[in-house]
Amino acid sequence: MSLAETSTERIIAPARNILGSLRLPGDKSISHRYALLGGLAHGITRLTNFSTGADCASSLACVEALGAKVARSGDGKIEIEGVGGTFHPTDAPLDCGNSGSTMRMLAGLLAPQQGSFALIGDASLSRRPMERIRKPLAQMGAKIDLTDGHAPVTIHSAKLNAIDYTTPVPSAQVKSAVLFAGLQTTGRTTVRESVRTRDHSELALRGFGAHIERTLESVSIEGPQQLHAIEAAVPGDISSAAFFLCAAALFPDSNLVFDSLGLNPTRATLLDALTALGAHIGVLNLEEKSGELVGTVQVNAPRDGLTGTTISGALAAQLIDELPVLAAIGPYTKNGIRIRDAKELRVKESDRIALVAENLRAMGAEVIEFEDGLDVPGGQQLHAAEINSGGDHRIAMAFSIAALRATGDTLIRGAESAAISFPEFFTLLDQVTER
Ligand code: S3P
Repeated sequence: MSLAETSTERIIAPARNILGSLRLPGDKSISHRYALLGGLAHGITRLTNFSTGADCASSLACVEALGAKVARSGDGKIEIEGVGGTFHPTDAPLDCGNSGSTMRMLAGLLAPQQGSFALIGDASLSRRPMERIRKPLAQMGAKIDLTDGHAPVTIHSAKLNAIDYTTPVPSAQVKSAVLFAGLQTTGRTTVRESVRTRDHSELALRGFGAHIERTLESVSIEGPQQLHAIEAAVPGDISSAAFFLCAAALFPDSNLVFDSLGLNPTRATLLDALTALGAHIGVLNLEEKSGELVGTVQVNAPRDGLTGTTISGALAAQLIDELPVLAAIGPYTKNGIRIRDAKELRVKESDRIALVAENLRAMGAEVIEFEDGLDVPGGQQLHAAEINSGGDHRIAMAFSIAALRATGDTLIRGAESAAISFPEFFTLLDQVTER
């Protein structure tokens, strides 16, 4: 096969080793929250190491359209002069691009505001379920129209009341939407969840000066409260690091170090999963910055290869964004990777269960697909293939990692989608890969 790269296709050749040290752009989840809450707050929020991904640019553009003043200096420094509590309705719809986080969390922020707002997204986002935010917000009294449960999302003025809501599916975005509405609503709003999902909204709300109360299974906010601007450095994105951590775990002589990586316990489950697979993970220099844990992480592969593991229950929810890359390296483990209770993967930027199975098969692997997961048997050698990323950033990056241990050169189609969360991915991958 003779392959050529284009602006949408990348060729990944097999690697001999992964070595180096990396400092990654800011966490996508945290950047979204700082952009949205900074847009609503009083004063000027000053951020460094803001996510370079297109998704967080969508959040920034939305708050800008809503009246916040945004200055971007190009090196991850962002200044946001917030609207001080009142967003201005826009003539044009607010474009959330590919970003479910933007659409769902912004809907919560806008539901208690005066005026009408329309939220639109790209083809992938327009297929994703929005009823999950409409339902609790409607319970609060919000007036929200969807089309068949999907975007466009139209929000009309309404007076909201506080609620006590138990999320039916673990979702940090739904939890955040309700909390962001509760922040601006008189009374005590409580969100309960059976699995503790990422808690960046809770930490960010506190950072912006809001008072919230937490128990093991619930978080409550008494509204209304005002937010005040922050100055913060966004920690490196652990979900971006995941691709490199998994790559390093595949090569016996690897050594990879990440500086200033976000290590929020609700996000760092991948380190436990890699440890369970036999990788050696070291964590140093742990500190707290704006409520978030940050540290240095070193990864080395086990000399005799990765073992295998099952990911189900709460673990599946906590690892939801890392499951594609874990599944993609499953064939190179001894005992395989089993994933269950991960039905949510089917409603991400793509149907990630179907695409992981399709691409593993294209690379010659045996894989069994379940409604809520996958069995990827171990001890399989993958061969080069043409990968269908489905325009999904995490699929493009996951199979770029699988390609490092395959025989032959792999073509990643839709490789440009990596820029949704991690535009530097291919450059940094080249930087740490020995061939
Ligand atoms: C996110 C929450 C998760 C995750 C997404 C980012 C967030 O989605 O998959 O990439 O920043 O809150 P759900 O809330 O739909 O589980």
